[in-house]
Amino acid sequence: MVLLVVGTGYVGLVTGACLAEMGHTVICLDINQEKIQALQKGKIPIYEPGLEEFVIRNTADGRLQFTDSYEMTVSQAEVCFMAVDTPSGEDGSASLDSLFSAVRSVAELAKRPMIYVNKSTVPVGTCAKVTQLIQSIYKSRNLTLPFEVVSNPEFLKEGNAVQDCMKPDRIIIGTQSDEAGEVMKSIYAPFMVCRERVIIMDPLSAEMTKYAANSMLATRISFMNEMASLCENNGADINKVRIGMGADTRIGYTYLYPGLGYGGSCLPKDVRALRYQAAEHDVSMPLLAAVEDINERQKQLLGDKITHYFDGEMDGKIVGILGLSFKPGTDDMRDAPSLILIKQLLALGAKVQLYDPVANHAASQIIPDHENISWCESEIEAARDSDALALVTEWKQFRFLNFTALLENMRGTAFFDGRNQYDPKEMAKRGFDYFCIGRKPLHTKAPIQN
Ligand SMILES: NC(=O)c1ccc[n+]([C@@H]2O[C@H](COP(=O)([O-])OP(=O)(O)OC[C@H]3O[C@@H](n4cnc5c(N)ncnc54)[C@H](O)[C@@H]3O)[C@@H](O)[C@H]2O)c1
Repeated sequence: MVLLVVGTGYVGLVTGACLAEMGHTVICLDINQEKIQALQKGKIPIYEPGLEEFVIRNTADGRLQFTDSYEMTVSQAEVCFMAVDTPSGEDGSASLDSLFSAVRSVAELAKRPMIYVNKSTVPVGTCAKVTQLIQSIYKSRNLTLPFEVVSNPEFLKEGNAVQDCMKPDRIIIGTQSDEAGEVMKSIYAPFMVCRERVIIMDPLSAEMTKYAANSMLATRISFMNEMASLCENNGADINKVRIGMGADTRIGYTYLYPGLGYGGSCLPKDVRALRYQAAEHDVSMPLLAAVEDINERQKQLLGDKITHYFDGEMDGKIVGILGLSFKPGTDDMRDAPSLILIKQLLALGAKVQLYDPVANHAASQIIPDHENISWCESEIEAARDSDALALVTEWKQFRFLNFTALLENMRGTAFFDGRNQYDPKEMAKRGFDYFCIGRKPLHTKAPIQN
C-alpha cells in the first residue's frame, strides 16, 4: 500500500518519515518547491531531533520519496494523509484554505478507492465538509469511486516529535466505517507492538478530542502562571508548590511549569479556534477566555520586570536574550514569547542582542531588520556590554552557563530568568540581581503588581 502524505511541515514530514521507518512506502508531497528540492537533496528544512537520520535512511532505502506533483503521485496512493497548515484567521477561526485546496487537488486526480485521512487540527464537523467537497468533485468528474474521510488528529510535540510519533500515547481514529477503521489500524499496527493504542470513535469526537486536549494543556500552563503571580507576592516558591502539586497522581507533573506563557504553532491558535467554534454555537467559554487573558499578560511579564528594574529608563539599555524559539528542541518561532519581549524592548528604545542555539535563522526570517537588533553566535556574545540578560527559552545548554564569563562580559548585573532555571540564592552569590517567575526576588526591587 502506498501512503501519500500531503504537507511536509512539522507534522507531515515527521509522520511520513516515521511511517517509512516502520516499513511503509510513503510519498511526501508539498506545494513548496524549495522545501521539496531541499528534501530531495537530503536537507531537512526544520530542526527536529532524530528526523534527519530517518529521512536519509528511508530515502536511501527507497521507502520515502518527496514530490511537488499531485499528477505523478495521486494515482499510486490508496491512503492520503492531510497534514497541511490550519492557521488562525483574523477572527480566531481555523483557516481551512490549505486543507480544502489539498483535498481538491487529490480528489480531482483520484483514480482508485481512497481513504482521506485528516491529520491537521480542524474544527469539529470538518470531516463532513471534506466529504461533501469530495462528493461534489467526484460528481463533476462522473466518478463513482468509493472513498472515506477519516479524522486522525496529531498529538506530537515539537522538539520530541519523532519519539512521540514512534511511541504515541494514543492514536485517535474518527470514522463510522469499520473497513476504514481496519485499514487505519493496519497502518498503525507497527507502532502498537508494545500495547494497543488505537482509539476508534466518531469523527466529530475525534476532532473535538484534539481541541479539548490542547485547551487542557493551555489551561494548566495559565493556571500555574496565575499561581506564580500570587507566589511572587506572598513569598511562596512556585517551584516548590509545583513539586507538591505534581506529586498528586490526580494532577501529575507535566505542563505545570510557570514561565512566559504558551506559544508555538498549536496551543494559541487551537484555544482561539475552539472559542470561535463555541461562539458559533452560542456557548460561552469563560474558562478559556481567562486562559488566553492570563497568557497574554504572561508574555509581557519579563519585559515588564526588566522595565521596572530600570525604572522605565530603557533608552540605550542593552539586553541580551538567550533563546528565541517558542520552546527548546525546535526552531519554530510561531507565537514565540521572545517576539513579544523583543517588540516591547525595542519600542522603549532598548537594544537587543539575540542568541538561540538553533533558531537564529528561523527568527531572522520573521523578525524585521532593526538598527537596535544584533544577532549573536553565543551566550557570551549576547552578554557582551549588556545591562541585563533575559533567559527566554530553556535550551539544555543554558542549564549550566559560565556565569563568571557572562558577568565579566556584561556591563550590568541583572539576570531575568523567564524559565526558573536557576537557584536564586546561587545567582545572588554569583553577583547577579536575579529575577525569575513565581519566586519573590532576593533583590531589593519590589515585585511587579499585576
Ligand atoms: N506543529 C505541531 O506541533 C503540530 C502538532 C499537532 C498538530 N498540528 C497540526 O497539524 C497541521 C500541520 O501543522 P504543521 O506545524 O506541520 O504545519 P506547517 O506549516 O509546518 O506545514 C504545513 C505544510 O503544508 C504545506 N501545504 C499547504 N497547502 C498545501 C497544499 N495545498 N498541498 C500541499 N502542501 C500544502 C505547506 O507548504 C507546509 O509545508 C496543523 O493543522 C497543526 O495545527 C501541528
